[in-house]
Amino acid sequence: MKFFVDTAEIDQIKELNDLGMVDGVTTNPSLIAKSGRNILEVTKEICDLVSGPVSAEVVALDAETMLAEGRKLAKIADNIAVKVPLTWAGLQTCKALTDEGIMVNVTLCFSANQALLAAKAGATFISPFIGRLDDLNLDGLDLIEDIRTIYDNYGFETNILAASIRSANHMSDCAKIGADVATAPPAVIKAMANHMLTDKGLAGFMADVEKAGIKIL
Ligand code: E4P
Repeated sequence: MKFFVDTAEIDQIKELNDLGMVDGVTTNPSLIAKSGRNILEVTKEICDLVSGPVSAEVVALDAETMLAEGRKLAKIADNIAVKVPLTWAGLQTCKALTDEGIMVNVTLCFSANQALLAAKAGATFISPFIGRLDDLNLDGLDLIEDIRTIYDNYGFETNILAASIRSANHMSDCAKIGADVATAPPAVIKAMANHMLTDKGLAGFMADVEKAGIKIL
């Protein structure tokens, strides 16, 4: 499973990228607003840093303006994936941009039917939001599973990009189901390294290092 990092914070992307943990980046208007940066400038910086796909989201609601925005975003760098919402206008924009050879990430997907439409419109990525479904006592992972089944049944090439990830468990669950990509905030990716038995085991080893005066350097 590929890891995308869900942030527009350059330092955090750089830290994970240096460790080889970043296969791509996703942003959205809320993450851009949080960064306090100009969307075109920060997106260019991210694209220069990361070689994989960098999702940058349109802000218009009608297809004509979305398309113009998408074309402008795509000019930032070759690794831009234009992000469009899963609305009828977003699907129209998705089809037009993919026909021009531009990667498209269709976002705000909450149902298998929406994912089916995005695949028909040629989306490069479909972003089902699992955390926001879980917040409503629905099961976001069930949605990933349903989309996996449907895409595999018909050989759709659209990549399932699990989004709205809230915990380290979501990451392993998505990998087990067969999501192609998961995008997560940096803190969630780092939390995947944590285990209380690792901490406990290390504390025991350190006590013995102290007791025996073990030195290597
Ligand atoms: C990524 O593409 C999405 O915009 C993001 O994962 C949404 O996450 P949230 O539900 O935590 O805002």
